Amino acid sequence: MTLSPRDPFLAELLDLARDLTARAGAIQRDRYETELRIDTKISAIDLVTEVDRACEALIVDGIQSGRSSDAILAEEGHGGDERDASIRWIIDPLDGTTNFAHGFPRFCVSIGIEQEGLRVVGVVYDPLLDERFEAVRGEGAWLGSRRLQVSGETEFGRALVATGFAYDVHRSDDDNLESFRNVVKTARGIRRDGSAALDLCYVAAGRLDAYWELKLHPWDVAAGFLIVEEAGGRISDFENGPADRSGREVVATNGPLHDQLLPRLAPGKR
Ligand code: IPD
Ligand code: CA
Ligand code: CA
Repeated sequence: MTLSPRDPFLAELLDLARDLTARAGAIQRDRYETELRIDTKISAIDLVTEVDRACEALIVDGIQSGRSSDAILAEEGHGGDERDASIRWIIDPLDGTTNFAHGFPRFCVSIGIEQEGLRVVGVVYDPLLDERFEAVRGEGAWLGSRRLQVSGETEFGRALVATGFAYDVHRSDDDNLESFRNVVKTARGIRRDGSAALDLCYVAAGRLDAYWELKLHPWDVAAGFLIVEEAGGRISDFENGPADRSGREVVATNGPLHDQLLPRLAPGKR
């Protein structure tokens, strides 16, 4: 079995998101480990490559050619976010740009879709492993023919946990290092693999038990949040409030570990 939504409208949106992530992923696969034009954004460690831009152009064109009245929020600036539309596409054309630029094989393309402000479709495609994580509200989270389920781990000491660091880490005191220390000292293991969207999907798949990060953006989490929720996981901000769709504070776990991770991330100890 694979994900096939009962609602024909959501099925149509999912098909388009699948097609666009597959085509952007093919560009990433072709250009992986080739000579790239690389620029910087908010800091010297915040990179953008010609492949980020090419993937975004492909995705935005693909949406606009068939669905011109939808709103689009895309990381590299295509599309206007201001439009008052029922459907909003939130796009990270290449999540894991630093990895991609270094030939480190962990990156993906992520597309989340909201309908009237609700997350309804999420697709994250890893082109090197040819893994497509996807979810539709109420229809579960899937990896190909496998329905995803978060892990059942209940002991923090047996948990594999992931995080990341924002691009202002060189100059900001709100740098995640205190939380990192707290978790390193108490979990089984910690990973910093450089793709927030894949980190969220790995929580959904039970490959990770928990994940947190600060200062992300809507495009990092739009698809991954739905995939975690549909796999039975829990998402919130650092104070255990509703998940912050801006990505400013992200905590995603299998559920049982949520209340064990949160105190390790207390404000002031970040
Ligand atoms: C980044 C990655 C990384 C996370 C950064 C993100 P980008 O996205 O998801 O894992 O730690 O905070 O900005 O720039 O590669 O799309
Ligand atoms: Ca990203
Ligand atoms: Ca990106």
